Amino acid sequence: MATLIKNAALITASETFEADLLIEGETISLIGKNLQRPGAQIIDASGKFITPGGIDPHTHFDLPMFGTVSSDDHYTGHKAAAFGGTTTVMDFVVLEDKGFRYSVDLWMEKAEKAAIDYSFHMNLTQFNEKIAKEIPSLRGMGITTLKVFTAYNGRLRIDDGSIFKALRIAKENGMLVMAHCENGDVIETLVTDALMTDHLTPEWHALTRPAWGAVESTLRVAGMASAADAAVYIVHMNAGGEVDMLRYARERGVKVMGETCPQYLFFTIDHLRRPDGAKWICSPPMRTEADNARLWQGLADGTIQTVGTDHCPFFFDGTRPIVYEGREVAIPGKELGADDFTKIPNGLPGVQDRMPILWTYGVRAGRITANQFVAYMSTNPAKIFGLYPRKGALLPGSDADLVIWDPEKKVKYGVAMSHHRTDYNLYEGWELTGYPEKVFLRGQLIVDGEQWLGKAGDGQFLKRGEGRVL
Ligand code: URP
Ligand code: ZN
Ligand code: ZN
Repeated sequence: MATLIKNAALITASETFEADLLIEGETISLIGKNLQRPGAQIIDASGKFITPGGIDPHTHFDLPMFGTVSSDDHYTGHKAAAFGGTTTVMDFVVLEDKGFRYSVDLWMEKAEKAAIDYSFHMNLTQFNEKIAKEIPSLRGMGITTLKVFTAYNGRLRIDDGSIFKALRIAKENGMLVMAHCENGDVIETLVTDALMTDHLTPEWHALTRPAWGAVESTLRVAGMASAADAAVYIVHMNAGGEVDMLRYARERGVKVMGETCPQYLFFTIDHLRRPDGAKWICSPPMRTEADNARLWQGLADGTIQTVGTDHCPFFFDGTRPIVYEGREVAIPGKELGADDFTKIPNGLPGVQDRMPILWTYGVRAGRITANQFVAYMSTNPAKIFGLYPRKGALLPGSDADLVIWDPEKKVKYGVAMSHHRTDYNLYEGWELTGYPEKVFLRGQLIVDGEQWLGKAGDGQFLKRGEGRVL
């Protein structure tokens, strides 16, 4: 059945215009004025606007950590994403000792319950000659991105020499390295000091992970990318100085791109000093208001390319169940580190929040334009990660992943509105104006106001090809 959406304002990464939009099957078939299609279901979207479905390039569903697991799985997290206007997510595969194929199969199995479209990045947390040789095999699995870490010594980090080799392999095989930038050695020493001096409260999570480590590591990784003539994508940029390094390297022709996340635009170390500070524990940590401002500036002037979430939720109190889809659920969470910040699982909820929060506090607040919003939330991730123009575009032939927004809808946001499977929301009580009203995934209406029409298994795995450097 065809669906004809009439009289909406269409917002793309480059323009805003009034038009009708026809969906036939899973794709957009026509965009134009006064479209007619006998037999089509008509939606009058006068006064509303349409954006492409959001693409969140950075999520962690069902991720084991510190003896527990992130509390959204590949169904609950997808459902929350959809309510916030996101129709594609990219999750990180944990690399097991048994190799890439085994690790990907495990993640595929977890994601069988997918409710929106999804793809994977591979965490490159081990490196040797055998692994190096096998990296190109990931392309056949539709995975063209490798995440490396300059922190988490002894756990996820690989050394700089290995990162450099990975950059070269990626370059030779049309793949992209994504980098988590902090200084693992400095962190290791500062954490040891903090534990020895009984500094155990959540703020010490931030105090032991200094911004300078993120800044110098961003420049270091950009420098290695330059030496390898490879592209690199800096994930979850959190420090103002990282924006400066990104700009410095980009101005010198280095193919370095950056992603920030909403939490780094709004929150600071002061949030970690609250009695419920553990809610804000993630890595890298919250910084200062000056860092928030510099990141906003990086979005406004186009130094940064995307906004992801790093969605990796844990319960604040995992001993107290919440009701999710009619059933009580409790998953151990932040309380595991009540007496020691190093035991607090790292990560925050955010996959539903990203677009509505950035619409009100980014676009309506005049910090970024509506077109930049679409670029950072959807079009740029599609281009960088090899999904464009199937995803991230309002074009004939593109997947009909669409969000119809009600620009006047007023919402008091918070945990009651959120479909994340956790017991808190970072934006509790925030006033929003403008909210997704209808969300389509490949032509299928999956969110209609408060109603969830999607289901587990409807999401498709997206095999990705080579992306673009923006
Ligand atoms: O605290 C976070 N961000 N947890 C997820 C892992 C990561 O480094 O992205
Ligand atoms: Zn990371
Ligand atoms: Zn992450």
